[in-house]
Amino acid sequence: MRAIPAFALGGALLLAGCGAREPAPPPALARIEQARPADARLAQAYERSCLACHTRPESGAPLTGHAAAWAPRLAKGMPALQRSVAQGLGGMPAQGLCPDCTPADVEQLILFMSHAL
Ligand code: HEC
Repeated sequence: MRAIPAFALGGALLLAGCGAREPAPPPALARIEQARPADARLAQAYERSCLACHTRPESGAPLTGHAAAWAPRLAKGMPALQRSVAQGLGGMPAQGLCPDCTPADVEQLILFMSHAL
């Protein structure tokens, strides 16, 4: 007789737990593709490098403007993220295909891409 309420409670907790961990969906792809850094030089760098992957869901890269996908990355701290870009990580080649991007440029590009659209 005690098993029923226990089961019901367990189920409710499980559902609540799932709901809380549900990641927010990315913004519409059209908005992701149109977004550019405000600075013209950075926008150019972004267009010829980061954009190729960070606007394509199939690339496995955290998408531009998808703040929820960036949150666990940002939690590593900016120096660690700059290092990942410099050295490459998984499907991302060294320097994120932007050989002339300085660490400061990379930081600005990361802040731009991780900002919610
Ligand atoms: C060829 C594809 C590609 C390009 C170009 C690219 N990225 Fe990435 N990026 C990825 C992928 C894939 C990941 C996820 C890697 C992983 O976690 O295995 C990623 C992850 C990242 C991360 C998270 C690193 C971490 O430690 O979690 C940052 C920061 C980043 N990219 C910044 C950039 C910047 C800035 C540029 C442009 C200068 C850029 N990327 C260009 C594919 C790319």
